[in-house]
Amino acid sequence: MIELYNSIFKRKSIRKFDDTLVLTEAELAQIKQETEKLTPLVNDIKVKFEIVERAKTTAKRGEYCLIIYSENKTNYLLNAGYLLEQMDLFLASHDIGVCWYGLAKLKEPQAGELDYVIMLAFGKSRPQDFRKCASDFKRKSTEVIWSGEFDSDVVDAVRLAPSACNTQPWRIVSEGTQIKVYRNTKIKSFIPASKLPFYNSIDTGISLCFLEIALSHKGYEFDRELITEGKINSGLLEIANYNIK
Ligand SMILES: Cc1cc2nc3c(=O)[nH]c(=O)nc-3n(C[C@H](O)[C@H](O)[C@H](O)COP(=O)(O)O)c2cc1C
Repeated sequence: MIELYNSIFKRKSIRKFDDTLVLTEAELAQIKQETEKLTPLVNDIKVKFEIVERAKTTAKRGEYCLIIYSENKTNYLLNAGYLLEQMDLFLASHDIGVCWYGLAKLKEPQAGELDYVIMLAFGKSRPQDFRKCASDFKRKSTEVIWSGEFDSDVVDAVRLAPSACNTQPWRIVSEGTQIKVYRNTKIKSFIPASKLPFYNSIDTGISLCFLEIALSHKGYEFDRELITEGKINSGLLEIANYNIK
């Protein structure tokens, strides 16, 4: 995953695609292959990826959609966010524009052993369609996201993770070699309250992906403990603890 670090500063949600640019069969094959190499957050959750033409979905943009299906088990949404974010970053590194697409659905959903979770719409883009620097991002200030002293490169990278309606629900508290990740359960957004835990859990999985890429890039080794039945304190739900070795 470490090779995805530079894409953190390049990626953005691409919502305009030039119809004259098309993905080749070879590129599609490479994307499919990449889905088989992703690093899971939780090893024993079965997932499946599928690439479909956009016309088979209600998505309004992109040439294709990459769908993730998953077993519905503890932390499966964190896992889905963590996995699909690796694809978002990988595709950006190849000038393939992506938009996470929570609102889109398959026109003809198929019943199967795994649940449909979410999709990325994607299509060939140009290098100039992506971000050039961290100041191109609209994000909450560092103080809102991270409390405690830590390597500023890691702190800055985690801040840039994408999230549904840019809600940025992850909150991080660090002390020495301990990093604790929480999800803010009191986010205010246009997203209906009943759907917030779903989207914000995926978002938090995305933030863990950013955190781990940045830690590895800076040479930190770490142990991660994912919390299965986290407690909520002052609206913050416990998600994961990291110990820097
Ligand atoms: C789980 C998730 C669902 C999203 N769903 C949509 C969507 O349905 N439509 C859309 O236009 N953007 C969607 N987005 C994109 C976010 O609006 C976007 O990531 C956020 O505003 C930050 O902007 P950036 O991705 O350009 O950095 C989604 C993002 C995430 C992570």
